[in-house]
Amino acid sequence: MKMATASKSKRTGKSSAPAYVPPKKLPISFTVNGQEVSAEAPAHTTLLYLLRDLGFTEVKNGCEAGDCGACTILLDGLAMNACCALGVQAEGREITTVKGIGTVDNLHPIQQKFIEHGAIQCGFCTPGMIVAAKELLDLTPNPSRHEIKAGIAGNLCRCTGYVKIIDAIEAAAEELSSKKGKRK
Ligand code: FES
Ligand code: FES
Repeated sequence: MKMATASKSKRTGKSSAPAYVPPKKLPISFTVNGQEVSAEAPAHTTLLYLLRDLGFTEVKNGCEAGDCGACTILLDGLAMNACCALGVQAEGREITTVKGIGTVDNLHPIQQKFIEHGAIQCGFCTPGMIVAAKELLDLTPNPSRHEIKAGIAGNLCRCTGYVKIIDAIEAAAEELSSKKGKRK
């Protein structure tokens, strides 16, 4: 590995600042919403920065400390804070953002219910909140209100007071369950 070296100033004889050596970039390949992505990033780059630099700005940057849940994504189907992982940890994995859950023309029931229940105000928490709700309903299709609260406990909303969000997730669970029932 190339090391930074200190040099001495000819004029003063004192050591000057070491020459800057840019960090080595590592190749990373993974999928986002079913699309294959290849990137190069230094080993210390967080998954949040990597995704946003690649254009997936629906993954929101709130606290960068694992506190707010704005950056929630699904990694191989499980919710996690992208700010708490390194980009290199995505190698070979499958990432889903809110855009992979439903589209503007084909909203997922969770997204539809957020609209119908007024569960979105400024919208900053919404992408992470919907991703967290998706994981919850995948793992617990008929959650109690208590389970819904626990499922979104890592996602902060400064606007809605949470009641409408919980109502929306409850309604989405009902709709998804009734759709499943009809398919039987
Ligand atoms: S930005 Fe990741 S938890 Fe807040
Ligand atoms: S709608 Fe504004 S932070 Fe949740």
